[in-house]
Amino acid sequence: MATPENKLAFDAGWQYSPAPESTDHIKVRKRYGLFIGGDFVAPEKGKYFDTVNPATEEKLSRVALASDADVDKAVKAARKAYGPWVRMKPAERGKYIYRIARIMQERSREFAAIESLDGGKPIRESRDVDVPLAAAHFFYYAGWADKLEYAFPGRKARPLGVAGQIIPWNFPLLMAAWKIAPALACGNTVVLKPAETTPLTAMKLAEVVADAGIPDGVVNIVTGAGETGAAIVNHPGVDKIAFTGSTEVGRIIQQALAGTNKKYTLELGGKAANIIFADAAIDQAVEGIINGIFFNQGHVCCAGSRLFVQESVAEEVIQKLKDRMETLIVGDPLDKNTDIGAINSRQQLDTIESYLAIGQGEGGEMYQSSCPVPDKGYWCRPTLFTGVSQSNRVVQEEIFGPVLAIQTFRTFDEALTKANNTPYGLSGGVWTDKGAKIFKMTQSVRAGVVWANTFNKFDPTSPFGGYKESGMGREGGLHGLDAYLRLEA
Ligand code: NAI
Ligand code: MG
Repeated sequence: MATPENKLAFDAGWQYSPAPESTDHIKVRKRYGLFIGGDFVAPEKGKYFDTVNPATEEKLSRVALASDADVDKAVKAARKAYGPWVRMKPAERGKYIYRIARIMQERSREFAAIESLDGGKPIRESRDVDVPLAAAHFFYYAGWADKLEYAFPGRKARPLGVAGQIIPWNFPLLMAAWKIAPALACGNTVVLKPAETTPLTAMKLAEVVADAGIPDGVVNIVTGAGETGAAIVNHPGVDKIAFTGSTEVGRIIQQALAGTNKKYTLELGGKAANIIFADAAIDQAVEGIINGIFFNQGHVCCAGSRLFVQESVAEEVIQKLKDRMETLIVGDPLDKNTDIGAINSRQQLDTIESYLAIGQGEGGEMYQSSCPVPDKGYWCRPTLFTGVSQSNRVVQEEIFGPVLAIQTFRTFDEALTKANNTPYGLSGGVWTDKGAKIFKMTQSVRAGVVWANTFNKFDPTSPFGGYKESGMGREGGLHGLDAYLRLEA
C-alpha cells in the first residue's frame, strides 16, 4: 500500500467534501431522458445509447440520443426562459446559482462516485478536485451576478441570449460548471451537451438544477455525440458557442460559425512544456512532473506532456522519475489508494497505444512502470520516452494519456526555443530556485497559463485559455464574464 507521500501531490485548495466510503448511496437511473424546459423528456426519435464504466466495460446506464428536433426543442425552451431570466433582479439570479453550489456540495459524495464510475478517474481526484472545484466555480460566479457593473466600470454589460455549450469527457462535471456558472451569472440561458462517454454527472447536475428551483428552461442538458453537438453549433437560435475539446473539432466549429453573429470561445488541445532547471528543488520538481503528466491519466489539456530538463541534472531527474513511477498504483478508480484510473474509452486507449508504437518507431526509448493492471477495462501504465527530438510526433502531438516525452537542454534560451516550438499554447511549467528566471520564463513562454514551482493548480478566480491552436477566449475569473456579455459604451 502506498504511503500518503506517495500520492500524486495534488491540492486544489477546495476540499469541502467528505470521503466516499462506499458506493451504496449512488443512484444511477437505468435510463435518462433529455433535460429540457425543467423536465426529463424522452428523445423525439426514441433513441438511446449506453454509457459504460471504463474500468469494467460494464454498462452503467442508457442515455437519450438527441436529434436535431430535440436540440431545437431545447433551444426554444432556453429562448422562452431568457426574457424572464434576464429581467429578474441580478441578486435573485445569484441566489439560484448559490443554491446549485450548495446542493452540489451536499451531494458531493454521490457526484464524486458517479464521476469516477462513468469516466474512470481516481476517486481521490473526483472527490478532492473535480467536485469541490465545480462547486467553487458556482459559488464564485454567483457572487458576480449582481456586481457586473463593477466588473466593467463605465460600460453597460448585456447578456448574449442562448448559449450553446459543448464539453469533453476529461473533467465532465467541472467543465459543465465552467460553462454554466458564468453564463447564468451574466443572465444567459443555456443548452449544454456533455461528452458521449461521460454524461452521468451532467444528468445529476440536471437534477440539482431542478431541485434548486431554477426557472424551467434556463438550463437545458441534451445528450448525444458529435452530431448533437453540431446541431447546437448550427442552430440559428443560439447566440454563443462555448466549446472544450479537440483542436480538430474546434476547427470545424470555427468554420461553421464564420460569417454568423455567434460569439464563441474555444478551449482546445495542448502540449505543455514543463521546464526543470538544475537549480530547482529536484524532489519537488519530480512530484510536479508526476502530477503534471499522470493526473487524471494524462487526459488533461494542460498536462505537462513535454519535459525539458537541464542536462546537468537530467540523469538524476529521470532516475527519480522512474523510481516514483514504480510506486504509482494503476487500477480501480473507486479505490482511495489508486493513483491512475482507467483510460476513459476504448477509442482513447487505441489512440494512446498507437502513439506508443509511433514513439518507438521514431526511435524513442520507451519506459513503462511494471505495476499490474486489471484484466478487464482500459488501462495504460505510466510511460515515458527518452531519446526523442523536436520533430517526433510524440513530442509534437497531443496524446491525452499518461505518456511523457523527455528532452534535455543546456541554456535558458534553448529551453525557451524548444518550449515554444509547438502549434499549441495552453500551459507550461518552470522549476527553478531563481525568481528572475521564473519571471523571464513565464513572460516568454507563449502559453495562457504558466505555473512556477507547481503544476495543475486551478482556481475559479484565475483565467484559463490558450494561444495558437489551443484556442481563443478565456474562462474563469473576470475574463470569464466577458465571454458571456456584450459590452456597450
Ligand atoms: P472531441 O473534440 O470529438 O469531443 C469533445 C466534445 O465535442 C464532445 O462532447 C463531442 O461529442 C463533441 N463533438 C464532436 N464532434 C463535434 C462536432 N462536429 N460539432 C460539435 N461538437 C462535436 O474529442 P474526442 O474525439 O473525444 O477526443 C479526441 C482527442 O481530442 C483526444 O485524444 C484529445 O487529444 C483531444 N481532446 C482534448 C480535450 C481538451 O480538453 N483539450 C478534451 C477532449 C479531447
Ligand atoms: Mg462512461
